[in-house]
Amino acid sequence: MKKFFYIFFLLIISNLNSKLLCNLELSVSNRRVCIIGSGYVGLVTGACFADLNHFVTCIDIDESKIKRLRNNDIPIYEKDLDEIVRKTIKSNNLNFSSEIKSSINESDILFICVGTPTKNGESDLSAIYSVINVIIDSIKQNQSKKIICIKSTVPVGTCKMLYNYLLDNGLMPNQFSIVSNPEFLREGTAVYDFSHPDRIVIGSNDYNAALEIQDLYKSIIEEKKVPCLITDLQTSESIKYASNAFLALKVAFINEIAELCDYTNANISDVVKGVGLDKRITHSFLNPGPGFGGSCFPKDVEALASIVKKYNISCKIINSILESNNSHKKYIASKIDPLLKNNATVCLLGLTFKANTDDIRYSPSIDIIEYLQTKNVNIQAYDPKGMENMNKLFPDIKYCKSAYEAAYNSDVVVVLTEWEEFKNLDLEKLSQIMNNKCIIDYRDILDINNINKNNFEYYAIGKPRRIF
Ligand code: UGA
Repeated sequence: MKKFFYIFFLLIISNLNSKLLCNLELSVSNRRVCIIGSGYVGLVTGACFADLNHFVTCIDIDESKIKRLRNNDIPIYEKDLDEIVRKTIKSNNLNFSSEIKSSINESDILFICVGTPTKNGESDLSAIYSVINVIIDSIKQNQSKKIICIKSTVPVGTCKMLYNYLLDNGLMPNQFSIVSNPEFLREGTAVYDFSHPDRIVIGSNDYNAALEIQDLYKSIIEEKKVPCLITDLQTSESIKYASNAFLALKVAFINEIAELCDYTNANISDVVKGVGLDKRITHSFLNPGPGFGGSCFPKDVEALASIVKKYNISCKIINSILESNNSHKKYIASKIDPLLKNNATVCLLGLTFKANTDDIRYSPSIDIIEYLQTKNVNIQAYDPKGMENMNKLFPDIKYCKSAYEAAYNSDVVVVLTEWEEFKNLDLEKLSQIMNNKCIIDYRDILDINNINKNNFEYYAIGKPRRIF
């Protein structure tokens, strides 16, 4: 009988799919939240929830990381994060711990923010399962209900699998709820994105649990009139993948059009302007570059392709996004090729996958360095934040203290990341210190008039003025 009521309840809940809730009158409450995994996502989410006056404990198995965080030594570069962490530690809203069990025991809302790296083309969920096992023990020992909210990006269907896993491991449905609450935080602007989201997406088969998670964001939802979409678990998981895949597709598409402009002599900047003026398309996310990178797009697009494969459906567009990006990176490298005379010196400006981060994961600069290392050339690189990380991958290239030091005596300068300080490079100075006046601007951030004035040989993808 109890089971019947439970199934009936689930049916009612599933009919509540896709409710667009705006400006709800929500109850005011400051909650005790535990964030499991203090990487980019966990740390930003924890600090921002603490800033909304919730009581947050961020935990991580890496004790040295927790030690650093307790001393307000932030292990990643993320704009405004250090200030918000300092402020919320001081107000006692935020604390850090490596005591996973006790921290889980003390909170009734648990956010899982651990990594889901790609392994053999699929997402590796082992970190999630080890956290879930600790949560199961905690619930059994303390008999207290937990809302388990999955922020990590997981393949569609994972939350349902976790739900069944908890039941299979001896928990009753009334002892826990599973909620999916994907993040849409861009590295470099993650703190801003948290408090100015375009939308909040919450998925659950327990509507009340979904409302409790919504309640955590109450002040943001009300003040900024942010739409909050409440739906089921697999739809919420799908929204995350569809969003990232679509954005990656936009970038891959415009990069292909930029390559085409190289052959037709059209100007990609004006193409983007003209296309972006169509309100159905918009300019945003249409900047051509050296290819998308980072910890999200390549990983998520690959994971989505592997989900599609699992269901044995063709989905040609999804499957070709990464292929297009990889070909584009090869195209980018091929453009440097004619300049690589024996023993040439190449100056790389920018190593991170985009500006305002120290993250080099899947950065196009890695492909370029690997390519250049197959040629007999010297590499001199500079990046405002990414050199420490890149040095771990490529200890044998020369890292410089400034863009000018990297450009000194070089035969070509290649701009790979759109850092603000590169936009204002003193091109006259550059022209005096380079061995050969040649610039490849893959982010199209340099002033063309200034480049012409200083008689540089110049190339930018899809731009009419090019010399090779
Ligand atoms: C991306 C999404 O934008 C976030 O919404 C999402 O939450 C996040 O992934 C994630 O899943 O965690 P992120 O990887 O930080 O955020 O970086 P983006 O700013 O989206 O840029 C991704 C890549 O596309 C970068 O390599 C960037 O240089 C490239 N890009 C972006 C372009 O080449 N052109 C553009 O117009 C925009």
